[in-house]
Amino acid sequence: MQDKRRIERMFSRMRLYEARNVIFSFGQNLIWRRYLIREVEGRLLDVATGEGNVLKLYRSGMGVGVDIAEGMLKRAPKGLLLVRGDAENLPIRSSSFDTVSIAFGLRNVPDKVAALREFNRVLRSGGKVLILDMKIGDRMASWFALPYVALVMPLLTPLFGGDIGDYLYLFRSILNFPGYDEMKGLFEKNGFRMEKAYYFHVGSTYLFVGRKVSGL
Ligand SMILES: C[S@@+](CC[C@H](N)C(=O)[O-])C[C@H]1O[C@@H](n2cnc3c(N)ncnc32)[C@H](O)[C@@H]1O
Repeated sequence: MQDKRRIERMFSRMRLYEARNVIFSFGQNLIWRRYLIREVEGRLLDVATGEGNVLKLYRSGMGVGVDIAEGMLKRAPKGLLLVRGDAENLPIRSSSFDTVSIAFGLRNVPDKVAALREFNRVLRSGGKVLILDMKIGDRMASWFALPYVALVMPLLTPLFGGDIGDYLYLFRSILNFPGYDEMKGLFEKNGFRMEKAYYFHVGSTYLFVGRKVSGL
């Protein structure tokens, strides 16, 4: 299912996207995105922006959103600057942003190294990268988060008209997402330094803060 077309279709047809996030995360997703926004510096490129939930929290006119799924972009509020595109091949000029963010998006991108290389390319020297995502199995979250994401979420999904297959995909992507050490290594190999990491919800969700230290 790590097929981009299928991922794009899955998100485009997803109904009540943000309502599900709020319910499944007990409203915590709204707080996590605010932590991300506090880390943003200057002009922001929000990759995998979806319905623009990160972008709309930032200063108007200072951010651009990119997403692969037309259906998600169509549901974003009017007035946001949005472009359709792939994180692995961004339709963005080199060195044109101060911060790149990606919230709950990188785990859906098949080639994470290609995406990190693109983030490096579009960032100015010294720019910041912010990666917010869910991860199970790295810290103490496993005892609660594993059964919750593996069983409770798929069982509740049909209530929102969702497809259980989509949630099984989601579960796998959360399990496979890089933890702190792996992400630090990925940062270092792709021209970033790990500056800080936040752990939310007993470690089930991370915000990695990286700084561009060299071009590629
Ligand atoms: C869980 S949503 C997150 C949306 C938004 N960042 C938020 O916080 O609500 C994941 C988003 O990643 C997008 N996506 C998946 N693969 C992508 C890719 N290769 N390039 C760009 N966007 C992608 C999906 O279309 C979807 O909108």
